[in-house]
Amino acid sequence: MDRIAITGGARLEGVIPISGAKNSAIKLMAASLLTEEPLRLTNMPRLADTRFLGKLLKRLGAEVVEADGPDGPETVLTTKEIVSGFAPYDLVRQMRASFNVLGPLLARSGQAKVSLPGGCSIGARPVDLHLKSLEALGARIDLHEGYVYAQAPRGLKGAEITFPFNSVGATEHALLAAVLAEGDTVLHNAAAEPEMADLADCLNAMGAKVSGAGTRTIHIRGVSRLGGATHAVIPDRIETGTYAVAAAMAGGEVRLTRTRSDFIQTLIDKLVEAGVEVVTHDDGLTVKRNGGRLRAVEITTDPYPGFATDLQAQFMALMTLAEGESVFRETIFENRFMHVPELGRLGADITVHGGEARVRGVEALEGAQVMATDLRASVSLVIAGLAARGETMVNRVYHLDRGFERLEEKLGACGAQIRRLKGDTPEAEVE
Ligand code: EPZ
Repeated sequence: MDRIAITGGARLEGVIPISGAKNSAIKLMAASLLTEEPLRLTNMPRLADTRFLGKLLKRLGAEVVEADGPDGPETVLTTKEIVSGFAPYDLVRQMRASFNVLGPLLARSGQAKVSLPGGCSIGARPVDLHLKSLEALGARIDLHEGYVYAQAPRGLKGAEITFPFNSVGATEHALLAAVLAEGDTVLHNAAAEPEMADLADCLNAMGAKVSGAGTRTIHIRGVSRLGGATHAVIPDRIETGTYAVAAAMAGGEVRLTRTRSDFIQTLIDKLVEAGVEVVTHDDGLTVKRNGGRLRAVEITTDPYPGFATDLQAQFMALMTLAEGESVFRETIFENRFMHVPELGRLGADITVHGGEARVRGVEALEGAQVMATDLRASVSLVIAGLAARGETMVNRVYHLDRGFERLEEKLGACGAQIRRLKGDTPEAEVE
């Protein structure tokens, strides 16, 4: 199993180009099932998760071709025919987002059998809202032995759907299904993450009629067929935020390029409140910190444009060295503090009560062996390692490979003392 070793103390100076967004790319790949024509996705991140979904899509009938295009990595997905509407447990268990093939399969071929994804390390993560929206669109849903059997032999019908709270996955799923439904669909209280607008832009390029994505109300006018398109994946806001926090932790000056600072405005506000200097540019931002301790701040995770739950662990790593006590309230997932005991191994002083963590800043962290249970928790340990004295060894690196492209290379190019120690690669786990 690969491990990553970091020797703390090096300042970061340089430029980090940001990759395409993982959480957009995998939904866009699923959208390719909606047409028999090629969908060409540019600015594609090359990650374990995109490779993995490619494997599932091939099984369903897609041809998946990866290439280095003029604007970087791209993937062309062509599903002339759905050869199977079956997504087995083993494939869905390993990556929750695989579940999102259900809507497109149903919309295109009127039936699907997809495994329920089950829980994962960050929480129970039910899919009740996904299923309710498909039912509202006229699908018949039956659950047997861990599988969702979905049918809509006469096609899906537009509907008004009101989500009780903002769910990224359920909104995307309803959108992916409703584009081919007959008539109009309105999604109320929809998730407004930038990945939603990206998915809608791609679907519109394929011939769909979607408006309002990226706001709380999305209108979809169903069309009878979609065609091929070329679409550039938006920059990864979580990768952007992660490197911004890494630069703040290590000190120095790092310019993040090929990205959008407006996607992480809430994080930028918190960095500035803590004492970090941030300058925004047309193609990204520069993060600077020259010595001195940061100040503790309070963080409450919220749906976009609130503070992203996917950046909570990284910011907590930063606050372990801040002056004073910072408070983290996690409101999206019930079990997203698994990095806390690991940060404790590096000398952090953190206590957790329910959904709230209190971090009392310490003078220094010390390198140690650590292990993490999900993607964002793993990278928080890398960030902590950048500032810890001595060597930090991060185990179970395959979590990082699911969502961060060439992490050691990007940080190493800015002067971080970071290297990968090769080992056997186990299968991926659910996020
Ligand atoms: C997406 O997960 C992201 N994953 C997550 O990123 C991210 O943390 C999350 O959105 C919130 O921003 C992908 O895009 C692949 P939700 P998703 O539906 O869609 C509950 C990462 O590290 N819920 O917005 O699963 C759910 O349990 C990952 O890249 C229901 O109760 O998130 C959670 O508490 C981790 N019923 C809350 O809603 C449902 O039917 C928000 O989940 C659906 C969700």
